[in-house]
Amino acid sequence: MSDAVAFQATDKSSRYRELVPQLAALFEGEPDLVANLANATAAIRACVPLASWVGFYIARGAGELVLGPFQGNVACVRIALGRGVCGTAAAERRTVVVPDVEKFPGHIACDAGSRSEIVVPIVKAGRVVAVLDLDSYELAAFDDLDAAGLAPIAELLGTLAW
Ligand code: SME
Repeated sequence: MSDAVAFQATDKSSRYRELVPQLAALFEGEPDLVANLANATAAIRACVPLASWVGFYIARGAGELVLGPFQGNVACVRIALGRGVCGTAAAERRTVVVPDVEKFPGHIACDAGSRSEIVVPIVKAGRVVAVLDLDSYELAAFDDLDAAGLAPIAELLGTLAW
């Protein structure tokens, strides 16, 4: 298995739809969580051209998220539940879309160039096991279409061996 992911569509909803089976194929037969998350970050970044950073923060112990596999600049390592966009998405178990990070109280600036962000919780057996975080250097890069497009991807990620 070494085929690159590829996308025909230019509109983002269709690109997310094209991503789902390609991610499923990447995960097929591979039980290693880190390997699968690493490939997922590369595939999602290829799918979302506006994303400057794509990665996971993984729930560890009580009340903390820890940096997992990602693509992009080095990032903050630990985020408390309820803090920042990631901690809010995890604590409230909901997708958080931030069109302008300067207007999100408590946003954690890992990369001063980031302008907008979306964070999607990943739930397995009723528990938030991680969040998927996408950042962009563009304002308002993410909206409801991204939230809808990423929902089945989060669901698929929830089936991995967390
Ligand atoms: N901005 C995030 C922190 C993670 S970085 O964007 C990679 C937040 O506020 O939770």
